[in-house]
Amino acid sequence: MDKILLIDDESDVQYSFRRIFDSPEIEITTANSGEEALKLAPKLKPDLLIMDVRMGGISGLETLQRLRQFDKKVLVIMMTAYGTTQTAIEAMKLGAYDYLLKPFDVPRLKQIVFNALKAARDMKQVVSCQPQAASEVDALGIVGRCEAMQNVFKTIGQVAASSATVLITGESGTGKELVARAIYHHSPRDQEPYLAINCAAIPENLLESELFGHEKGAFTGAVAQRIGKFEQCHRGTIFLDEIGDMSLPTQTKILRVLQSGTFERVGGNQPIQVDVRVVAATNKPLEQAVASRQFREDLFYRLNVLRIHLPPLRERREDISLLVNYFLDKFARRQKQAPKSISANALALLIAHHWPGNVRELENIIQRAIVVAKGDAILADDLPPEIAGPKGAVIPAATPLPVLPVATSPATAAAVACGDNLAAIAKTLFDFARRDPSLKILPAVERELLIHALNETKGNQVQAAKLLGITRATLRKRVEKFKIKQDLLVH
Ligand SMILES: Nc1ncnc2c1ncn2[C@@H]1O[C@H](COP(=O)(O)OP(=O)(O)OP(=O)(O)O)[C@@H](O)[C@H]1O
Ligand SMILES: [Mg+2]
Repeated sequence: MDKILLIDDESDVQYSFRRIFDSPEIEITTANSGEEALKLAPKLKPDLLIMDVRMGGISGLETLQRLRQFDKKVLVIMMTAYGTTQTAIEAMKLGAYDYLLKPFDVPRLKQIVFNALKAARDMKQVVSCQPQAASEVDALGIVGRCEAMQNVFKTIGQVAASSATVLITGESGTGKELVARAIYHHSPRDQEPYLAINCAAIPENLLESELFGHEKGAFTGAVAQRIGKFEQCHRGTIFLDEIGDMSLPTQTKILRVLQSGTFERVGGNQPIQVDVRVVAATNKPLEQAVASRQFREDLFYRLNVLRIHLPPLRERREDISLLVNYFLDKFARRQKQAPKSISANALALLIAHHWPGNVRELENIIQRAIVVAKGDAILADDLPPEIAGPKGAVIPAATPLPVLPVATSPATAAAVACGDNLAAIAKTLFDFARRDPSLKILPAVERELLIHALNETKGNQVQAAKLLGITRATLRKRVEKFKIKQDLLVH
């Protein structure tokens, strides 16, 4: 739940806020003065403070100043009547997150408040490089056991301590934002602000002013001075997401901040010095953008010094069962329910899928499957058609595979998943073999096939041999060779 502390001595304003943000996800506490807020805040630990600039008793600005002495991170939105924007700017210089003009424009008010709550969550939710322990409800884990992810964890550890710029690359949904937050949480700046800006989501002509602020009259519509994110984030960390979508003039300004720590507000000529750590991310191949002159080469080299590349999920299939269990657990905890398990068939389908949307797609599919699953386990039928195929077509309903809470072996998984498409099965198996030759894929597959055939025929060796296209004598030899004991069979 997000906690908001509203400080305003006007009861109508308190009433409007309660109505506008009436939601089970938001808890609003009100204070009538700065003095009251300063007493309440340490106990309440709000995620966001919304405060009037002009109040009886100590002013909003003084309240902000005093608050900052014991909390550098709490987000503050100042409210001000039209015509007193200068005070709002002073507030921004003191580290307020944003300001609102009275009377309120409700959609804008909601947008600012929701953005601020998201920024507060980004700062609060600690990202660790291990799946979270049951007690750490606020901690997010970056799940990954494969070698590429182990290297990612190592690099996060190495770069976190410094203030160096980091570039995170990888396809959409591979966890770039998660890595950016992990760097912040493991850095010495973790008690200072962290602000994320999605460069692709802000219109090109507004991005520069969002990042660097503007002076009054800098362009049509610039009715007052504005403080940008770099200034607000002094001593903190800024996450420039989708940096590949940034226009060339803005890139030039970013390069200058990286080189000298200085910039000018749009329309201004006074250099402003800041100490901000930049973490950038992109899902576009920046090398190509450099070649086509859409991205500055010097900026690319500057960013590329420390690079963390996240592999697509299809190149780390060995992590899929780990991620599935992590998400089953995460959603169960969120809903305060016991985690569901997943059938071997369903897991096999997930392991074999191509995952164009990477971990985000997997997370969404698990979330949906938990809702549609009727029993305690997610079955193949609970997965969307792009994964399960047309209903009932891939796996014969009678296949007596046990329901497992953990992964089956990769060989079982891939073979079940691909149904009768032999080439696809072989390719998936070969991918496993290439990545981990210790699997000894051919004997492993043979053994799994024998177990399946014997299960299917309830241990009848004649029928099992027939199903596999071999003689009974060969089957018997193989059963001995692979030490397939009766207790391995599920019939
Ligand atoms: N290794 C991981 N372990 C656990 N969760 C992950 C992992 N990677 C990604 N996720 C989850 O997947 C979702 C997408 O991750 P994130 O937003 O970090 O991806 P992204 O690379 O920034 O994608 P985009 O380029 O589309 O912005 C998030 O909910 C995130 O928590
Ligand atoms: Mg992202």
